[in-house]
Amino acid sequence: MKAPLSAYREAARYWLREVIGGMRHRRQLRAQGIDVSSVSLRQLGLDRRVAHNHAYSGGPDLERVLRDLPIGPDDAALDLGCGKGGALLTLARFPFGHVAGLDLCGEMLEIARRNLDRAGLARVELFQADASVFDDYDGFTCVYMYNPFPQGVMRQAVDAMEASLERTPRRLTLIYKNPRFHDEIVRNGVFVERCRYDHSGHPFVVYGSHR
Ligand SMILES: C[S@@+](CC[C@H](N)C(=O)[O-])C[C@H]1O[C@@H](n2cnc3c(N)ncnc32)[C@H](O)[C@@H]1O
Repeated sequence: MKAPLSAYREAARYWLREVIGGMRHRRQLRAQGIDVSSVSLRQLGLDRRVAHNHAYSGGPDLERVLRDLPIGPDDAALDLGCGKGGALLTLARFPFGHVAGLDLCGEMLEIARRNLDRAGLARVELFQADASVFDDYDGFTCVYMYNPFPQGVMRQAVDAMEASLERTPRRLTLIYKNPRFHDEIVRNGVFVERCRYDHSGHPFVVYGSHR
C-alpha cells in the first residue's frame, strides 16, 4: 500500500527541521570552538554502576521544552551530570537568575568551563560532585538530567531532592531527557509528570513537585 503524500511531506519536514537543523546547530558550535562530542564511559574512566556515557542534549529540542516553562530571575537551574556543558549553553540563554552544573568527572568540567567561556557564559557555576551523595538542592527550582546515571544513583538523587522540598517547600521542576528511570521519579508521589515531548530521538519529560 502506498503512503499518502502527506506522510512524505511530514517526513521531509522532520528531516529539514530535526536533522538538517541539528547539523547546522552543531556546526555553529564547532565554529565557536565549542566541543560537545560524545565520550564513552571507558574514556571517562567511570564504572557503569555509577555513570552513563557522555552525550550532548542542548540546542533546539531543549529550547522548545524550556520555552513552555514559566522561567524568571527567581529561578535557578542545575544540570545534574552536566558533562561538557552542552545543555548548560542552552539553559543559560533562558532568564534563570542562576545556572549551575555538576559532574563527577573533572575532565568534563574543564571542557565545560572552556565551552562556557567561549560562549560568553562565564557566569555559569560548575562544581565537581557525585549525584549519589549530593544533597544541596535547596537553592534550585529546576533540575535538568539527560539520562546521566543508573537506577541506584537516580533513586539517591530523587530522595535528596524530596528531602530538600521537605526542608524548603517550593516549586521544583525536573526535566528528564531519555527518562529510563521514570518510575524512580514518581515513586513517592512527590513528583508528577506534567508533560512529555516526543519531538526528538529521546523524549523529554517535565515533572512538577506537589510541595
Ligand atoms: C549524558 S551526559 C549529559 C551531558 C549534559 N547534561 C548534556 O545534556 O549535554 C551525562 C554526564 O553525567 C555525568 N555523571 C555520570 N554519573 C554521575 C554521577 N554519579 N554524579 C555526577 N555526574 C555524573 C557523566 O560524567 C556525564 O558527563
